[in-house]
Amino acid sequence: MSEVVTYNREGSIGVITVNYPPVNALSHAVRSGLVAALEQGQKDADAKVLLLVCEGRTFIAGADISEFGKPMQDPGLPSVVDQYENCDKPIVAAIHGTALGGGLETALGCHYRVALSSAKVGLPEVKLGLLPGAGGTQRLPRLTGAQKALEMITSGEFVGAKDALALGIVDAVEDGNDIKAVGLAYAQNIADEGKPVRRVRDLTDKLEADKGSEVFEQFRAGLKKKARGQFSPFKCVDAVEAAFSLPFEDGMKRERELFMECMESPQRAGLIHAFFAEREVSKVKGLPKETPVRDIHKVGVIGAGTMGGGIAMNFANAGIPVTIAEVKQEALDKGLAVIRRNYENTAKKGRITQAQVEERMSLISGTLTYDDFSDVDLVIEAVFESMDLKRKIFGQLDDACKPGAILASNTSTLSIDDIAAATKRPQDVIGLHFFSPANVMKLLEIVRCEKTSDEVKATAMALAKKIRKVGVMVGNCYGFVGNRMLHKRGAEAMALVNEGASPQQVDKVLTDLGFPMGQFAMSDLAGIDIGYSIRQERRKAGEDVPASWMDKLAEQGRLGQKTQAGVYRYEEGNRKPIPDPEVDRVIAEFRQEQGIKSREITDQEILERCMYVMVNEGAKILEEGIADRSLDIDITWIYGYGFPAYRGGPMFWADQIGLDNILGTVEQFYDDLGGEQWKPAGLLQELVSEGRRFGDL
Ligand code: 3HC
Ligand code: NAI
Repeated sequence: MSEVVTYNREGSIGVITVNYPPVNALSHAVRSGLVAALEQGQKDADAKVLLLVCEGRTFIAGADISEFGKPMQDPGLPSVVDQYENCDKPIVAAIHGTALGGGLETALGCHYRVALSSAKVGLPEVKLGLLPGAGGTQRLPRLTGAQKALEMITSGEFVGAKDALALGIVDAVEDGNDIKAVGLAYAQNIADEGKPVRRVRDLTDKLEADKGSEVFEQFRAGLKKKARGQFSPFKCVDAVEAAFSLPFEDGMKRERELFMECMESPQRAGLIHAFFAEREVSKVKGLPKETPVRDIHKVGVIGAGTMGGGIAMNFANAGIPVTIAEVKQEALDKGLAVIRRNYENTAKKGRITQAQVEERMSLISGTLTYDDFSDVDLVIEAVFESMDLKRKIFGQLDDACKPGAILASNTSTLSIDDIAAATKRPQDVIGLHFFSPANVMKLLEIVRCEKTSDEVKATAMALAKKIRKVGVMVGNCYGFVGNRMLHKRGAEAMALVNEGASPQQVDKVLTDLGFPMGQFAMSDLAGIDIGYSIRQERRKAGEDVPASWMDKLAEQGRLGQKTQAGVYRYEEGNRKPIPDPEVDRVIAEFRQEQGIKSREITDQEILERCMYVMVNEGAKILEEGIADRSLDIDITWIYGYGFPAYRGGPMFWADQIGLDNILGTVEQFYDDLGGEQWKPAGLLQELVSEGRRFGDL
């Protein structure tokens, strides 16, 4: 008997217990153990009913993802589930925590399901580029009908126990937290009432009702928009449809074929890399797990502008009181009104209640003086991007805040070390770089200064989790990880238009790659004046920043979405970018002034110049130790800039393209175009010469 799955009998109930921390994933040992325990239960004449239950924090949370991509060892999960379903003694699955993927599929192979009211169930395989491959696409629709099964399987969203009961996925829901006691009581009831085995595969009424329904075509049409560029959501629809058009056994075969197609897709590899990378970023190199963290009970934010307001909302959402400081009452009132409006809009969409709006607003207060920061545990500064102003504010905060309070800046480009030097507590200073809109975007770049203490670093990482962000620890340099790479891409995109591409051609290449918006649509969203003032500052500082057609747009007051005109034009109340002949005229005029003869630019050149410049910069970032691992860069881009998770992030993507290919092209661009950005990174050269990849570092 395997140690991870045990069998014992309690009265007339044969109990099969899985104990494979942390989440009882269906590793080879668990699958074999499940089969062995079932055999024991079947042979045990005194066991009238069998109960499947799990130890620890959750029911089985799915297949063991770390086994994907390797040869699958018998018994495969579909066969394990079949053996449970074919058992001639009734089997009850008792669900606590989350029954996900293969876990829910195993439960669907059991004859009855009872869940704690706190439990959740779901088939999240699509989020890993897969589809449920152990009968989920065939059994779930037999319980819920087509619509709900398609919703759950194509979205991967979880369903709470009470909803699962209403949908027929579970048969009973009980309060409390002792899952074994709940399971035993339910199983005893089945035994006492002499209830028979009840196999989901044999249920047909929901299938009959939805046979030939248009719902499948409707889902495909909807996914064309929602899941653009993705592979597995469409395969999920095909698999569910098979449940309605084929007998069970044939439907299972079809599911397997489609599952294997997904398994072999590069998107599966990208999404699984992203899954593990997201968990790995929380383990910071050189930061011991047991590092103490400081309590954050009360927070101060400076600046109630675009970022300050969004930052404050994160804390209110997490139940942490937050005080926002502004210079003028008018700016404060305006900032607080914007926050309220954001909450009201969320309530209108039904995502929070009006009571929650009031509760969150009551956690946010305003002030015009830092005296109100004497008892805060953390202050995040989000004022204009000016070093002088930030240094002045940090000096004042040093006096106003209690010892041990953490002082953080949301600067997107300035040196955190220089800001920290304005205080007498550089060990308590750190960068907390949020992404706009700060209450929505999941990334938090946590910028360590030279002197930041381990305790402050660990506190920042823990805080990210608390406010439901993905925290990535990075080093201090211009633009840190995300914006440093973005600015290189931006300059290249601008140059491509100088040379002959149109902004919409550049943007289309990026959206075809899977970005939610292109470089220029993004500039319009952020405001063209931001890039313009950065370029002007750099010119003033004596840097050689080439002239640009975008400078002309900024000078004409075309600042982006906020003026309904930027690189694109916008219609009232609509964020859709519309190409504008006026911009084409500005570009043409600029080329003429500069004596540039416009040339045809291929989509492939756009892709290589926009993406390889980022990869080359990413390699420099790794070389300099600004990011510890390539996966830190991948997660920064997935959560900060919408890099398609199914491509695994820019560095994983580069590994798939082949670093030798990339280096060859980078060298070519360096010869043809010149510029520091195309100087091949030493690390890239080293990896290619050793036949290694970023993922091997
Ligand atoms: N396989 C292997 N390891 C897994 C895993 C899985 N299915 N699910 C979680 N883990 C690991 C994580 O990597 C992490 O490891 P670490 O501590 O070494 O970093 C650890 O378990 C804990 O995970 P979390 O940090 O995510 O813990 P949470 O409590 O926040 O979340 C969870 C728990 C909700 C179960 C979440 O981990 C999750 O969503 N897991 C994935 C579930 C899933 O996608 N299942 C479907 C798998 S595909 C499948 O079943 C195919 C089948 O149809 C054939
Ligand atoms: P913003 O201009 O919208 O807001 C700045 C606010 O700070 C204004 O309301 C202003 O009144 C206030 N302010 C100025 N001096 C102050 C002082 N001494 N005390 C209190 N309040 C003061 O600017 P935004 O866009 O919110 O940017 C703030 C910071 O966040 C900048 O450092 C920027 O680089 C950074 N950032 C901006 C992002 C964006 O997309 N806008 C993204 C990430 C970081």
